[in-house]
Amino acid sequence: MLPLLSLALCSTASAAVLNTRSASTVAIDVDTSTRYQVVDGWGCSQAFQRAEDVLGKYGLSATNQSYVLDLLFSVEKGAGFTILRNGIGSSNTSTSNLMNTIEPVSPGSPDSTPNYVWDNYNSGQFPLAQAAKARGAPYIYADAWSAPGFMKTNGDDANGGHLCGVSNATCSTGDWKQAYADYLVQYWKFYQDAGVPVTHMGFLNEPSFEANYASMLSNGTQAAEFIRVLGATIEREGIDVQLTCCDDYGWTDQEALMAGLQEVGPDGKSAEDYLSVITGHGYASAPTFPLSTTKRSWQTEWGDLAGGFTPYTFWNNSGPGEGLTWASHIQVAFAQANVSAFLYWIGAENSTTNSGLINLIGDEVIPSKRFWSFAQFSKFVRPGARRIAATSSDGDLTVTAFENENGAIALQVLNNATTDQDIKVKINGGPAKSFVPYITNNQHDLDAMPSLLQNGNGHIQATVPAKSLVSFVQ
Ligand SMILES: *[C@@H]1O[C@H](CO)[C@@H](O)[C@H](O)[C@H]1NC(C)=O
Ligand SMILES: *[C@@H]1O[C@H](CO)[C@@H](O)[C@H](O)[C@H]1NC(C)=O
Ligand SMILES: *[C@@H]1O[C@H](CO)[C@@H](O)[C@H](O)[C@H]1NC(C)=O
Ligand SMILES: *[C@@H]1O[C@H](CO)[C@@H](O)[C@H](O)[C@H]1NC(C)=O
Ligand SMILES: *[C@@H]1O[C@H](CO)[C@@H](O)[C@H](O)[C@H]1NC(C)=O
Ligand SMILES: *[C@@H]1O[C@H](CO)[C@@H](O)[C@H](O)[C@H]1NC(C)=O
Ligand SMILES: *[C@@H]1O[C@H](CO)[C@@H](O)[C@H](O)[C@H]1NC(C)=O
Ligand SMILES: *[C@@H]1O[C@H](CO)[C@@H](O)[C@H](O)[C@H]1NC(C)=O
Repeated sequence: MLPLLSLALCSTASAAVLNTRSASTVAIDVDTSTRYQVVDGWGCSQAFQRAEDVLGKYGLSATNQSYVLDLLFSVEKGAGFTILRNGIGSSNTSTSNLMNTIEPVSPGSPDSTPNYVWDNYNSGQFPLAQAAKARGAPYIYADAWSAPGFMKTNGDDANGGHLCGVSNATCSTGDWKQAYADYLVQYWKFYQDAGVPVTHMGFLNEPSFEANYASMLSNGTQAAEFIRVLGATIEREGIDVQLTCCDDYGWTDQEALMAGLQEVGPDGKSAEDYLSVITGHGYASAPTFPLSTTKRSWQTEWGDLAGGFTPYTFWNNSGPGEGLTWASHIQVAFAQANVSAFLYWIGAENSTTNSGLINLIGDEVIPSKRFWSFAQFSKFVRPGARRIAATSSDGDLTVTAFENENGAIALQVLNNATTDQDIKVKINGGPAKSFVPYITNNQHDLDAMPSLLQNGNGHIQATVPAKSLVSFVQ
């Protein structure tokens, strides 16, 4: 087992070709009095049976199953992800990578008694959620890609279709809105009774995108119609869960749903009033602007689904799967799009693509540079932290800063220049206290460097190597 944090001396040259030091010192100013959104954290999913990959489907030993779970969810031994996003299955079989529904057979009509089934496994996601919770992950986000097929206009949980009973979605079997709300509440109860509280719940995934796998279409008005039913059901049942909507395919698509969610109904409430978190994905359009909401925003799914698995590249040609690319996506989402959480698609899987953060080949565990980029944030910025103002005098060095609930500051400096850069950090206009720097670049994986102390002028001075991410942690 490799130690996660090896104390390594920082090489100021990250590559032979990238070793020219820039002449001027970059000024980085952090202002703890300018406070922005609260942080819920970072995370991933193991949906579509990827949980089984971690549970040994392709030969991962028990030792390495623990190792992978530690890498993902332990703050002492790994990235300390705080959010696991589960898929609420809608399929009546578990062949291929389909996720089982808790209601595989139609009761015939919306008013008939449903026959729910629970197998304590949930396509591997239940034991995985137990393992994440045991390692300290506070949030389980359960999200449905679709209602079961018999509740939909197309009679299929795949290939789009609408939930029967929302506007312009009439079915001969009737209105299934209440039945779908009851079904989601029952999923929550199965997890609760089995000892793993689902803290956040959503009922849509990419509702603007008709996929040939589990998918269900909805616009904002139609989503709002269902949220009113689900919200009322949750209130009636006295269930403690935070509702989300709508996990649309891109940030701009999610923004387009907001007006429908915000229409005020006869009761004087909007559907948004029932929601705690507005969720969107980064695929079709990146989170680069705040959604029109006062609720929390989470970027709940994004990844590089193309390219062959490129685990060892922090930076080469600014490709879509590189570590630096994802460090930048995270900084932009927090600094420009006001997100409180940022999730990659899959945590660990057996795959030939970059769609996961960690690859599993037989019993081999290969964390990618993307994984270490995520960990540079998630390990040091804990739930309840606030983003605080941070500026850099050089556009090639982008910065974000957070203040944890215990007052400890974590500052992330991403140097995308081809030269090493000297920096000088001030906090509230004055000298910074000492920091421990951690670095990820082509040579390093979240390696701790010697502590930085104030120099004679009371300033923290450091060198951030070319094409590197350094987290300065108090
Ligand atoms: C299973 O679901 C598919 C697609 O929704 C449907 O065509 C099929 O009839 C279902 N099978 C059973 C046994 O309910
Ligand atoms: C959503 O679709 C319904 C039914 O097609 C339509 O009546 C409604 O105006 C649409 N809402 C929005 C916000 O586009
Ligand atoms: C209503 O549904 C039909 C059939 O699904 C669709 O062709 C039509 O565009 C929808 N109308 C509106 C206003 O969304
Ligand atoms: C950022 O999000 C918070 C909720 O987390 C919200 O109160 C605030 O209004 C948002 N700010 C902007 C600029 O959208
Ligand atoms: C680096 O990028 C070049 C093209 O810019 C490409 O030919 C090469 O394969 C890449 N190397 C790695 C390790 O990805
Ligand atoms: C998955 O693991 C198997 C070993 O069980 C290995 O042979 C295969 O190459 C892996 N597949 C991928 C796509 O990594
Ligand atoms: C676990 O994974 C590591 C890293 O890929 C590998 O070297 C080792 O052989 C695997 N198995 C065990 C039992 O540690
Ligand atoms: C980083 O710099 C490269 C040029 O070296 C540029 O192509 C790329 O867009 C930059 N990436 C980010 C995230 O700014």
